[in-house]
Amino acid sequence: MSLLVTGIAELVTHDPATGTLHDAAVIVDGSHIAWTGPAAHAPAADERLDVQGRAVVPGFVDSHAHPVFAGDRAAEFAARMAGEPYTGGGIRTTVAATRAATDDDLRSAVRRLLTEMRRQGTTTVEMKSGYGLTVADEVRSLRLAGEVTAETTYLGAHVVPTEYADRPDDYVTLVSGAMLEAAAPYARWIDVFCERGAFDGDQARTILTAGAKAGLGLRIHANQLTEGPGVRLAVELGAASADHCTHLSDADVDALAGSGTVATLLPGAEFSTRSPYPDARRLLDAGATVALATDCNPGSSYTSSMPFCIALAVREMRMTPAEALWAATAGGARALRRDDIGVLRPGARADLVVLDAPSHLHLAYRPGVPLISTVLHDGVPL
Ligand code: NIG
Ligand code: FE
Repeated sequence: MSLLVTGIAELVTHDPATGTLHDAAVIVDGSHIAWTGPAAHAPAADERLDVQGRAVVPGFVDSHAHPVFAGDRAAEFAARMAGEPYTGGGIRTTVAATRAATDDDLRSAVRRLLTEMRRQGTTTVEMKSGYGLTVADEVRSLRLAGEVTAETTYLGAHVVPTEYADRPDDYVTLVSGAMLEAAAPYARWIDVFCERGAFDGDQARTILTAGAKAGLGLRIHANQLTEGPGVRLAVELGAASADHCTHLSDADVDALAGSGTVATLLPGAEFSTRSPYPDARRLLDAGATVALATDCNPGSSYTSSMPFCIALAVREMRMTPAEALWAATAGGARALRRDDIGVLRPGARADLVVLDAPSHLHLAYRPGVPLISTVLHDGVPL
């Protein structure tokens, strides 16, 4: 079954061969894009969707999210807004709630957030474990995530759980040994929270090296709260992505710029922890590849909205609206080492968003406004 999407006032393709088109059309064939071009030249199709002067952009690629958890931490957020600092210590509160949840409750929690994301135009989402922190609970989180996404990430190294507080090295042994072995069949990626109060550079190296040996791709929570070794480790180990990148030295920026490691910025975290935003402009000007993602989690960033992150990136991080949209789509795809999403070109997945607006500028220009008119995921309307 083919579908002609026409009446597109602005079509942002992120395909270098095509760029951004006006008065455009797209042909979707099954789950893939078959054609993009001027509406006047569109070939025939079985069905027709006239979007009547709206803009069409690639579906958002949320390459960093923690949606597998139970409970919330609204009181912690309120305390922070009253002046308490964010330390990451609240992760253990969510671990306790997540361990106590039934499979069905946890599954519904994941699906509720996924539905929220889809309604806001996200067509690909990476999902991390990390609120289980036992072999069985990490495997369970990954299994539930794997029911709804191919981009699953083993984050046993989120924080040292309470029961290992006085023997953290034993936990590192578990995370890089038996827990990894049990988790690897359910995960595409491995991630470590490399930060003061979580895992140091040596521990992160041990865990990531073991993950790579088990066939997993690498990602790191790096330089979120302090200027630590995470970013340089990510580049050295060839990680797909270094995430947060809030506190960077010049050497960190240079290392990212000369590497295949994407700098994934998560402005929802700075918003919700009332922290200074990462300097996207500095990274872009140095030549680094930048992605934007939500970091959706109950502690530091309980947003599921990519449009909100785009608006923050433009307003607070000096990205242009076009750069922010690229980072939230094609950039996320790079961070997941995917070339079939984040771009609208023949052969790519038919993941696209029709905006209730005539151009992509409105994503940042009209913050907080529900501008997602229609979402096609694998060619299927939501
Ligand atoms: O990406 N940094 C570590 N993990 C999350 C926070 C998780 C939490 O506070 O529950 C983050 O910000
Ligand atoms: Fe995170």
